[in-house]
Amino acid sequence: MHIVFAASECVPFAKTGGLADVVGALPPELVKLGHQVTVYLPLYKVVRPHLPEELTFAIRSITIPFTYYNRFAGIVDGGIRDGVQFYFVDCPELFDRDGIYGPKTSAGDFGDNAERFGLFNRVVLEATKQLGVPDIFHVHDWQTALLAVYLHTIYFFDPALRKAGIVLSIHNAGYQGWFPPNTVPQLLFPWDIFTVEKVEQNDTFNFLKGGIVYSDYMTTVSPTYAREIQTPEFGSGLEGLLSRRHWDLRGILNGVDYSQWDPSRDPNLAAHYTPAKLDGKVECRRDLLHAFGLEAVADATPVIGIVSRFATQKGLDFVAQIADRMMERDLAMVVLGSGELYYENLFRNLAARYPHKISVQIKYDDALAHKIEAGSDMFLMPSRYEPSGLNQMYSLKYGTVPIARATGGLEDTVEEWNAETGTGTGFKFYGYNPSDLLTAIDRALAAFQDKIGWKKLMLNGMAKDYSWQHPAREYIEVYEEVLRRRG
Ligand code: ADP
Ligand code: GLC
Repeated sequence: MHIVFAASECVPFAKTGGLADVVGALPPELVKLGHQVTVYLPLYKVVRPHLPEELTFAIRSITIPFTYYNRFAGIVDGGIRDGVQFYFVDCPELFDRDGIYGPKTSAGDFGDNAERFGLFNRVVLEATKQLGVPDIFHVHDWQTALLAVYLHTIYFFDPALRKAGIVLSIHNAGYQGWFPPNTVPQLLFPWDIFTVEKVEQNDTFNFLKGGIVYSDYMTTVSPTYAREIQTPEFGSGLEGLLSRRHWDLRGILNGVDYSQWDPSRDPNLAAHYTPAKLDGKVECRRDLLHAFGLEAVADATPVIGIVSRFATQKGLDFVAQIADRMMERDLAMVVLGSGELYYENLFRNLAARYPHKISVQIKYDDALAHKIEAGSDMFLMPSRYEPSGLNQMYSLKYGTVPIARATGGLEDTVEEWNAETGTGTGFKFYGYNPSDLLTAIDRALAAFQDKIGWKKLMLNGMAKDYSWQHPAREYIEVYEEVLRRRG
């Protein structure tokens, strides 16, 4: 089977969150299962250093019409990596700038994102007609959901594309890509798609909704989230549509790329460790506390780590609301994150008030994220919602005990510790409120006092296997189902 991934992020080229990890890891796994995979990405400015000085063009120029003008894009051959063919859509006016979805200096979006991703999706479709039409297009989130709309409207009668099926993965239903109605003619769509049954929602063109309406099948990134998005609390207005199509919706939990996230060989760490020989973790903790200027924290004091996009989704308000009570406890906290200014200020403020207990670094730093996973004793994810979440799975592998809200992928991957039976991998809370979070933290702090129990808890987590092999097979089942239905 030939599968084309069209995506807006992929490690190592461009990343704002877990989507990039997934698009980086799933294709090579599908190749291992004997399939052909091609990945198309925009040629953002951040991608450029990953490509050779002299670019090789697979296609020199594709013309894409907009209302009053044409744009031109080239297809750069990014070569084959781990068996996967990469192509980059080169349109400097739209992609050669700082930032992926918005200016680096603010959390806002670029004003021309409809045009940027409109062009990207259309170019991908045009390019495949020359470079190979796949059996399946696999698209991700609102940015490439639009490819489904193109395929089943403007390209509906295109003989070359006729047979291709399309699968949409919803990594986050909280971001849907809402654009003004005039986006419909701007991208040359017929007005008849602008109805509430198709792409319209509250007088906006909703790209994700379009993807849900026009794709053959949908996946989300955990089984629990697949159920949650069919309810008003998590569906963000799309719950009706999603529950009507629930036969075409499947939750497939994300995997972990253990070639990048494994404490026995992670090059970012001060020392390595394994379940059989944990000593290295102590060294990692020392190194982490040094990196955060918290050298004075006593050995017996647990260190709680946070690595997060600073967004409302992540439930970080709660940490601020219980901070004073948390600081009465014997603990230290290291925080790495960036995003919305509100949360950046909130954490800066906490660190200023409790300089000996909380240290914060506001930036995006992959090496430091690895150090936090290894050097912390506990990892905090109080998310309001979490489609899959990767950090808690990294934490388990690193013997760092997750404290998480029981939602989405967190519910599916963290099992409450039971000291009597010696089972479980972490601590969970259900209510979306700060006092439930504090209670979960208190349970973790109490468990930390029992050294033998705590070691068992760490080892339970380290023994979990969330490698991509299993989810990759599930995606193949989905693709096969789509092909079966299309005959
Ligand atoms: P989301 O995609 O919602 O942000 P995930 O848990 O799926 O959440 O993935 C987040 C990914 O981004 C992880 O690989 C995590 O390590 C990384 N990450 C998030 N913030 C930072 C940061 N400030 N520095 C380095 N890595 C980060
Ligand atoms: C989204 C979700 C996150 C998920 C990631 C990759 O960003 O917020 O939970 O792990 O996508 O699927």
